[in-house]
Amino acid sequence: MPLIQSKHGHDPVLITAVEKYSNLNKGDTVVDCTLGLGGHSEMFLKKIGPKGTLIAFEQDEENYNYALNRLNKNKNKHFILKNFVHLQNEIEERGIENIRLVFFDLGLASTQVDDPKRGFSFMNDGPLDMRFDKRQPITASMVLQKLSERRLMEIFREYGEERYSRKYARIIKENLPIETTKQLADLIERHTPRDYRKKGRHIHPATRVFQALRIEVNQELEVLKDALLQAISVLAPGGQLIVISYHSLEDRIVKNIIRDATKDCVCPREILICSCNHKPKLKIVTKKPIVPDDNEIAENPRSRSAKMRVAEKL
Ligand SMILES: C[S@@+](CC[C@H](N)C(=O)[O-])C[C@H]1O[C@@H](n2cnc3c(N)ncnc32)[C@H](O)[C@@H]1O
Repeated sequence: MPLIQSKHGHDPVLITAVEKYSNLNKGDTVVDCTLGLGGHSEMFLKKIGPKGTLIAFEQDEENYNYALNRLNKNKNKHFILKNFVHLQNEIEERGIENIRLVFFDLGLASTQVDDPKRGFSFMNDGPLDMRFDKRQPITASMVLQKLSERRLMEIFREYGEERYSRKYARIIKENLPIETTKQLADLIERHTPRDYRKKGRHIHPATRVFQALRIEVNQELEVLKDALLQAISVLAPGGQLIVISYHSLEDRIVKNIIRDATKDCVCPREILICSCNHKPKLKIVTKKPIVPDDNEIAENPRSRSAKMRVAEKL
């Protein structure tokens, strides 16, 4: 899980690379889709100066308020307490144009991971909640209650790439209700083969189930696909799309959407003469993802899984 600019003094993930690839100048317009605690946005505001414009989305009210306090002094900002899936609508409604950067730093902020009340982590006991946006009605505990065993199995397999998805889905259904993070983590640990850790796995056996549940509760992958397409559409020519992701499912989506947007033909293979009139919308800037160096990982271990991809609007 990522840590990010925290209240305890860590720097935002890959901040130097984000600054370099964002190519910002005074007066530019930037969209930060994941404001979090405002670490990256603080840097963007310095780069674009008082004449620049920042539009920032955050769906977690606590982080939103924290960042708002921190960055409030600046003019020309639009802080939006909404899911970034509303990106295009919100920008068009405000009549904002010439966007030079759309930035995503996906996943969780330290405040969310470290707060037991949010229910994201099996390291501390708390309600099994996992909602980024507490205005949403469905918690992780309710997901376990409502979905069928089969659907839970699919979720653990698809969103967690969990090898024991069938078994975990069954034992969860047999042990409902599950209302706390500890209940779920202990249950999974009890039903995990004894040699699990001997086989070289260093993560807690509940890690993948927790990841899968979080993705389901917040519909993270659907929202990401949708928002990336909107981001490509709102960027001005020459503007940058920068995405930092923290697990392989997210990174695959980012990579594929960027790759598809660079194609000049999307006709089916069997068609010999192109008839799609598809035009490439992006150019890839970083062929391989940028990752944190050893120093950053030592300073901020939660940054270790970060992968950053950059593309430029044509
Ligand atoms: C990794 S943190 C961002 C940290 C931020 N870059 C900083 O420097 O403080 C990710 C943030 O994105 C928010 N978030 C995740 N998915 C979101 C979505 N679909 N819409 C809006 N905010 C989202 C989370 O609530 C979290 O605060």
